[in-house]
Amino acid sequence: MDSQWNEIPADVRDMRRRTLFSVFSPSAPVDRREVFAGRLEQLATLREVVFQRGQHAVIYGERGVGKTSLARVSRDVATAEQMFTAHVTCDGGDSYASMWTKVLSEIHFTIEGTEGGEEGSSTALAYASEMSGAIDSNTLRMVFTALGRVAPTVVFIDEFDVITSAEVRQRTAETIKMLSDQGVNVTVVLVGVAEDVTGLISAHESINRNIVQVPMPRMIVSERLDIIRTGLSTAEMSIDDSAAQRIALLSQGLPHFVHSLAQKAALAALNAGRDRVEDGDVSVAISQALDASLVTVSSAYYHAVTSNRETTLYPSVLLACALATPDDRGFFTAKALVAPLTTILGREVGIPAFGPHLNKLANERGPVLIKEGEPRRYRYRFRNPLLQPYVLMRGISDGLISFSAIEGP
Ligand SMILES: Nc1ncnc2c1ncn2[C@@H]1O[C@H](COP(=O)(O)OP(=O)(O)O)[C@@H](O)[C@H]1O
Ligand SMILES: [Mg+2]
Repeated sequence: MDSQWNEIPADVRDMRRRTLFSVFSPSAPVDRREVFAGRLEQLATLREVVFQRGQHAVIYGERGVGKTSLARVSRDVATAEQMFTAHVTCDGGDSYASMWTKVLSEIHFTIEGTEGGEEGSSTALAYASEMSGAIDSNTLRMVFTALGRVAPTVVFIDEFDVITSAEVRQRTAETIKMLSDQGVNVTVVLVGVAEDVTGLISAHESINRNIVQVPMPRMIVSERLDIIRTGLSTAEMSIDDSAAQRIALLSQGLPHFVHSLAQKAALAALNAGRDRVEDGDVSVAISQALDASLVTVSSAYYHAVTSNRETTLYPSVLLACALATPDDRGFFTAKALVAPLTTILGREVGIPAFGPHLNKLANERGPVLIKEGEPRRYRYRFRNPLLQPYVLMRGISDGLISFSAIEGP
């Protein structure tokens, strides 16, 4: 019997709805292994780093690609193995001392009852202040050495990129180097938005060999499908292949969009009395996702395309940018826009027709694009990676393109 014609009982529907809100979390990092998809290579690398005395790591990549989720899940694994762990988030105004104070206050340990001493629990911060008044590299060395006699410590320092002070970055790098050289039983993992490792830590030669790089690329299609299928099956739902492909394609490998679209499409199916998600539900999800998107993203879009003229090329040029085939670093050339723009407009266009628009998108319009290189060889990229899938969804929703215009990963 076709499930479409079976009214799903209200209580079952409510339960599924609640499940959908917990398995798909577009705005919160994943913190449970069951809903964490893929990233096996990165998990394995971090694991090796933890067991290799003197090695530390840097996790870096675009905003929204899944760095914090990887850190959280790795931390959970370490905690389950009885290691001491901490995961802190930096503030722009953090000093060296305030950052490490957060780290130490997260590390709890129990004190066994000894003669004259009582059993109880304490934090590494309390221990540090007993030993010394200051939070400096020497204190850190003593604390982690003492902890290391019981178990290894793993420390994740997230959003390290927001720290603007060169002094704090420098001192942190020196501390990592010192902990390495002394073979202290601790692993420090810096996490942040950066294109390469030097964007996060000014890795002078001597520290390079102690720091393992963990780049976070966009998710491959199988990982995206994994998120969709795992989430839906937890909610006792399923999805048509083409609907799953559409979500995977539109997300462009950014898990935020996979979660957002999958959750909205599944809710649309439930509202229609179905437990299987279809193409039409994805269309509903797209328009809802556009309405619910981050203000930073939607306002960047309007800023980029709005014009007083009745007919303006900006929406089409921006859409062509989102469709252009980029290089490994996400950059595309003006020439790469010719084919997609021709498809969108349904007529031949050359660079002179849209060159000025492209230039303005990289200047006064936002700028929503970053421009790099020399005259006649400029390369462009979206400044905010989340804008690209947004533009694709707008293009679909406004009827400027169909799904077949979007290239695979
Ligand atoms: N491996 C994963 N499996 C499932 N969802 C993920 C995974 N990694 C990230 N996400 C989801 O993607 C979004 C962004 O993840 P987050 O870890 O906050 O990224 P970042 O720290 O790089 O900005 C969140 O909604 C999170 O739930
Ligand atoms: Mg993060």
